[in-house]
Amino acid sequence: MSSESFENLSYEDRTFPPSDSFVKNANAKSDIYQEADADRLAFWEKQANRLHWDTKWSQVVDWQLPFAKWFIGGKLNASYNCLDRHVLEGRGDRVAFHFEGEPGDTQTITYKQLLSEVCKTTNALIELGIKQGDRVAIYMPMIPQAAIAMLACARLGAMHSVVFGGFSADSLLSRIQDADASLVITADGGYRKGSAFALKTAVDEALKGETNVKNVLVVKRTGQEVRWGEKDIWWHEIVDKQSDQHSPEFFDSENGLFILYTSGTTAKPKGIFHTTGGYLTQAAFTHHAVFDLKAESDVYWCTADIGWITGHSYVVYGPLINGATQVMYEGTPDTPTKGRIFELIEKYKVSVLYTAPTLIRTWMKWGDEYPNKSDLSSLRLLGSVGEPINPEAWMWYREVIGNNNCPIVDTWWQTETGAIMISPLPGVTATKPGSAMKPLPGISTQVVDDEGKAVGNGRGGYLVLNQPWPSMMRGIWKEPERYKETYWSRFNNLYFAGDGAKLDKDGAIWLLGRVDDVMNVSGHRISTTEVESALVSHEAVAEAAVVGANDEMTGQGIVAFVILRGGIAAASGEVLVKQLRDHVAKEIGPIAKPRQIMVVAELPKTRSGKIMRRLLRDVAENRAVGDSTTLADPNVMKLISEGLKSGKSED
Ligand code: WT7
Repeated sequence: MSSESFENLSYEDRTFPPSDSFVKNANAKSDIYQEADADRLAFWEKQANRLHWDTKWSQVVDWQLPFAKWFIGGKLNASYNCLDRHVLEGRGDRVAFHFEGEPGDTQTITYKQLLSEVCKTTNALIELGIKQGDRVAIYMPMIPQAAIAMLACARLGAMHSVVFGGFSADSLLSRIQDADASLVITADGGYRKGSAFALKTAVDEALKGETNVKNVLVVKRTGQEVRWGEKDIWWHEIVDKQSDQHSPEFFDSENGLFILYTSGTTAKPKGIFHTTGGYLTQAAFTHHAVFDLKAESDVYWCTADIGWITGHSYVVYGPLINGATQVMYEGTPDTPTKGRIFELIEKYKVSVLYTAPTLIRTWMKWGDEYPNKSDLSSLRLLGSVGEPINPEAWMWYREVIGNNNCPIVDTWWQTETGAIMISPLPGVTATKPGSAMKPLPGISTQVVDDEGKAVGNGRGGYLVLNQPWPSMMRGIWKEPERYKETYWSRFNNLYFAGDGAKLDKDGAIWLLGRVDDVMNVSGHRISTTEVESALVSHEAVAEAAVVGANDEMTGQGIVAFVILRGGIAAASGEVLVKQLRDHVAKEIGPIAKPRQIMVVAELPKTRSGKIMRRLLRDVAENRAVGDSTTLADPNVMKLISEGLKSGKSED
């Protein structure tokens, strides 16, 4: 048996260096790595100076493994850094958000207007008794008031706990209870896939449970009918009448900024807890360096919902601190047409786009005709986050969306890390399709074996972080033991992120997915990601999900579920399955040849786009499908099972 933690099978040698003009104008130049290596803490102090501090810190870091504090003694206000500063320095008329509702309604909000809305909302929260340290649950569609609500909480030193609007009343209740929130901010509903969905109803349902919620603040978005109770207050009735002046207090660097629950598929959700100074420093630095933001000329669009960490760090805090002009879109990418995102890129002349591989692969499946209908020539930089992006999707993103003209930054990070950790720098790195490349300046990672020893280039193992970083989680809300146990117990003194990775011959990092997703075939540990990438590199396949299913002969057998690409005439049935199996064998090796390949119309995904392999394993092992309540589309498992009954493709 191999001594490696993962088989290192597939190989990629294409590289894409940035153009000369990109290099010349880049925010981050190649010397930044040496600078950070020479003195890591001095480097982070310099980045902290991107922020306005009312009182400067007296100590950079206090590291009592696994608990960190950053910029100790410093005082600042997150909302002041996102808003007041720009207005005071003459940038008040710059557009902060071009908002586009799904039905086509629009709003243009300048920094000055955003500040005034946030001040009014802050004054309303004060009237409702909210003060520093309180927890406020935010359960909203993707509309400007969601960001305004977050910034108003931050302005008061209260912590927001944003609960993604797609979660059920039960999920909302357990999060309200765990954080002990005293206020819920919501809307009557929002727009999705062409119709209005309800949010207030779910809040009513949740609040039948036991909570300390005193008020529910409700934005009128759709005008749908809502039940009204004693705790309920319309946003427009209490916010609009307030003064638009509020002079903020400056809070300790370690004052809590937010709690964000990770949507665990099995265990009780973890309340990931973030504080202010370190988090904002890394969010602002990474947004500046990785997205190369030129605040005067760029139009930046991160498609993430505010309910995820990506929405916190790269829609609200990072971009606003940097004075960015952004697009915010409420709805789904296929409403009213599959070209909606591309139409918006053309309309607003978006120059920097940050999205997820799941959407990129969906676009591939829909076909090139949609992006080709719009003028995407304003784009100059593309980003990806959330899952490994397979080389095929990376190349498609580069060619079809980026017109071979835009560097791609594949950014690896987590809710727990708060901000980007591993990514190319767009004006420095010669990128390889599918690799997140290397840790950012000031960040230190390793790939280790089962014993926690660093592996060499060309080898695979577990991705760990071996130095504290400013935006790291400060713990799991109220569960310090669980924090230690979950992240710091697998290896001594190392943060284990849960992901497998390999280093190629040049030391570039290739993420291999969660280690729980690794398959063991005849003693070979094979990454689901690599087999998926091999499948997607076949012209007929748009998307693939691979699981290891029990196998009497080999321990686990590889079972693949594939979605075919739109518009491509594929060989049908058995012929295609044979082609695909041979293709995987050619790309990776015979050991990785799937035992079984099933053609499906959809894959089971969470609302953040992660494939729920657990459910596919149930199908592959002929079991009843387990708990699927966190699925984005609750019907998808039924579709898959029924589709398979009518045409099993085994050989
Ligand atoms: C997990 C964290 C970070 C914001 C969105 C997800 C996976 C994330 C990448 C990437 C490969 C990635 C990892 C990670 N992941 N980015 N660029 N390449 N995998 O946040 O929900 O906390 O999930 O997403 O498995 O551990 P999250």
